[in-house]
Amino acid sequence: MKYLVKTFGCQMNEHDSEILAGMMEQIGYEQVERPEDADAIIINTCCVRESAENRIIGYIGNLKKLKEQNPGLIITVSGCMLQQPGAAEKLIKRAPFVDLVLGTHNIHRLPQLISERQGGNESLIEVAETEGDIQEELPVKRQGNIKAQVTIMYGCNNFCSYCIVPFVRGRERSRKPEAIEKEIKCLGAEGFKEVLLLGQNVNSYGLDFTEAFDFADLLERVDRNPDIERIRYMTSHPRDFTQKLVDTISKSQKVCEHFHLPIQAGSNRILKQMNRGYSREMYFELVESIREKVPKASITTDIIVGFPGETDDDFADTLDVIKRVRFDAAYTFLYSRRSGTPAAKMSEQVPAEEKKRRLQILMDLENSISREINEKLVGTREEVLVEGTSKTKDIMFSGRTRTNKIVIFPGNESMIGKLVNVNIMSAKTWHLEGQIIK
Ligand code: 5AD
Ligand code: SF4
Repeated sequence: MKYLVKTFGCQMNEHDSEILAGMMEQIGYEQVERPEDADAIIINTCCVRESAENRIIGYIGNLKKLKEQNPGLIITVSGCMLQQPGAAEKLIKRAPFVDLVLGTHNIHRLPQLISERQGGNESLIEVAETEGDIQEELPVKRQGNIKAQVTIMYGCNNFCSYCIVPFVRGRERSRKPEAIEKEIKCLGAEGFKEVLLLGQNVNSYGLDFTEAFDFADLLERVDRNPDIERIRYMTSHPRDFTQKLVDTISKSQKVCEHFHLPIQAGSNRILKQMNRGYSREMYFELVESIREKVPKASITTDIIVGFPGETDDDFADTLDVIKRVRFDAAYTFLYSRRSGTPAAKMSEQVPAEEKKRRLQILMDLENSISREINEKLVGTREEVLVEGTSKTKDIMFSGRTRTNKIVIFPGNESMIGKLVNVNIMSAKTWHLEGQIIK
């Protein structure tokens, strides 16, 4: 029997998909690339923006034909999209050929439900409203053998006013440090070189413990693992990025000099409306302290344009922040109205055309800054973890610097998974090019 997992959305979802794949292999299924070859297809969904939901609906619609050709095919739709009120029922009505629906808190039930579905005729829906216990020891089929994702906490308590995540991923729950350390120890023994610690807001790790043990403490512990070369983490909330954390990172050996700090907007008025809990001044202070303690730091961000009520002046404040901070890169999004969130009810929604206009201005500005920053790296030497062949140029290899910049260079297969030193020869907006130092 063959299976395929199709993933939409963020890194948390990608990692959930590794667990879904792990469970499928445990019950004897083999992975395939093409939906036509599969006996079971699992679509792991995202709902953070409407565009993702539209793509998912399109993808599911296309599976109808396959199901007609192969009635034994089991189609499962899982994850965030289904966790919204009424979404599972709506999906089954619209796409009755879907066999199983699983909410974010139910994915561990996949093997059981597949076997129940095989014995029955009805579509099965399992969407728990509450989180339940953290499931340890689930099988994981990792996507590569160099970098691994490790969940350190689930859920989000922030309720930023635009964001659906707290509604679909539940409240914050931290995994015990021992469980995390054990997983990372195994990864090191298996030859993984880099771990990415995952959570919606890693900076609130441990706040749900009775004993005092926070994210900085966790990083300090993970940093001691001799087999792992690089540690990254995702995502940070600027409000909770403590001085202790900056200090810990500056002293650590393996935690990379890359800070992803989503600012979301540059205007204090909009930040307040977003319920972000910091002002632009507080953000500037944090950036300053990072740059002082970690001089090589790269800083990237997420920005939303067209939040309800965003005026030209508010948008000008966002552009001003971009110019002042000079981000290495920014992931920019059009505000998307998510039903059930406080911002969806705000009256002054910005027209689509205006949002697009602002996004283009923002991207043009950021791209020119990214390129200027990259150009300053020409002539320097960077440590690169080689990940594989480059997607764009066949004979070239690709890897990342500790600051998370992609570097492309001529190399050979034996370098994959190794740290090499590269002379940076030229810079583009999204990557660097260089030559390995022999
Ligand atoms: N509309 C647009 N972008 C959003 N994000 C989260 N919710 C929305 C929304 N409703 C963006 C934020 C977040 C990133 C993962 O997605 O910038 O940091
Ligand atoms: Fe959403 Fe805000 Fe939580 Fe990030 S921190 S997942 S933007 S609610």
